[in-house]
Amino acid sequence: MFKGVLFDLDGVITDTAEYHYHAWKKLAEDLDITIDREFNETLKGVSREDSLTLILKHGGKEDSISAEKFAQLAKEKNENYVEMIQAFSEKDIFPGILQLLKDLKANEIKIALASASKNGPMLLEKMGIANYFDAIVDPASLAAGKPAPDIFIEAAKAIGVSSKECIGLEDSIAGITAIKESGSFPIGVGNATDLGHDIVLVDNTSTLTFAFLEEKWSENHD
Ligand code: G6P
Ligand code: MG
Repeated sequence: MFKGVLFDLDGVITDTAEYHYHAWKKLAEDLDITIDREFNETLKGVSREDSLTLILKHGGKEDSISAEKFAQLAKEKNENYVEMIQAFSEKDIFPGILQLLKDLKANEIKIALASASKNGPMLLEKMGIANYFDAIVDPASLAAGKPAPDIFIEAAKAIGVSSKECIGLEDSIAGITAIKESGSFPIGVGNATDLGHDIVLVDNTSTLTFAFLEEKWSENHD
């Protein structure tokens, strides 16, 4: 049986992936850069600074932005994003996630947050679920972000469980790659075109019950 579950936040626990997209799209438009949902898949799971670099490259503007302007743009995007999520509360938790957290606790499975977002702790507080988490990895403490495995390796360490005994839940291809590299067992929220044909996928978080996790774990482990 698995002993830990490592949660991504944006797009797994709540719909903030959509707000990140809107905030990036607005910022890109102000710079005369067009981004669409397909391009946005490459931003998911990626840090604020790396996302901005990808957008500037996409628009062929990476060389025309000073370090100062870069920092200002990243700040602007974040302020816009934070404004969008001010009213977040328990009602914004994706279907099934609160019950899953409760069932994991009842079954003494450790829970960690492995999100690249610096807004993670604030969001968990707003949704009233911070107490369920045994550990929250600080993304600023890591040498490399997703798709590097560091954040999932640190998350498993922080709850005192071997990576091999953890399930990682992710909605981004960067995150799925990171989970695979870390040695944990990935479950993707999304479709095979975005996340790959070789992993367990759900198209909706309501499928993520404790029984589903147990079933998929035992199907894939001796
Ligand atoms: C997550 C999201 C990304 C976001 C990143 C940084 O990985 O999937 O869309 O850019 O966190 O979030 P932050 O809130 O720190 O800007
Ligand atoms: Mg995500």
